[in-house]
Amino acid sequence: MGMSVDPGQFRSAMARFPGAVTIITTLTPQGRRGITATAVCSVTADPPSLLVCVNRATGTCQGILESGRFAVNLLPDPSGDVAMRFAGAGGATGEDKFALGDWREDAAGLPVLADARVAFSCEVAESLTAGTHQIFIGQITDISEADGAALLYEQSRFHRLAPL
Ligand SMILES: Cc1cc2nc3c(=O)[nH]c(=O)nc-3n(C[C@H](O)[C@H](O)[C@H](O)COP(=O)(O)O)c2cc1C
Repeated sequence: MGMSVDPGQFRSAMARFPGAVTIITTLTPQGRRGITATAVCSVTADPPSLLVCVNRATGTCQGILESGRFAVNLLPDPSGDVAMRFAGAGGATGEDKFALGDWREDAAGLPVLADARVAFSCEVAESLTAGTHQIFIGQITDISEADGAALLYEQSRFHRLAPL
């Protein structure tokens, strides 16, 4: 009956969606963890909530499961170097990723980027396994904002916002 779609076809189709580039961070007893992520979505304003989809194979996912907290940092333009580092480029993992960027702490001690266009501090309200990924719905406990443009990603490249 149903048509089959393979993972490669799915990836190339999803690559057409322009995404705002974020770094999702958390804090573990072993230190800070973070990944570059575009799978971030508004859920509801009441209570203020968002969701993120995080690969279960990452230390960030395990850290969020353990700590029950995460932060979402919307990257400024330009900051492709930070995005690539937190995507694992150059082989940096764990704490080493944080050598790039001006990282501060939120009230809960989570890593937030000083020049993030917006940073959301979240407590996990719900968590759901979906294949290779974990969907975390976070209730937002704090927001900080800064003026300037955000970094975009589409077709495996970074892009800049331009007004029409
Ligand atoms: C632009 C971009 C967007 C990404 N979005 C996500 C995402 O939404 N969720 C996710 O789990 N991984 C995403 N990744 C992949 C993770 O960043 C990558 O698997 C992770 O950093 C690997 O970390 P590790 O080497 O410390 O395990 C994305 C990568 C890039 C370059």
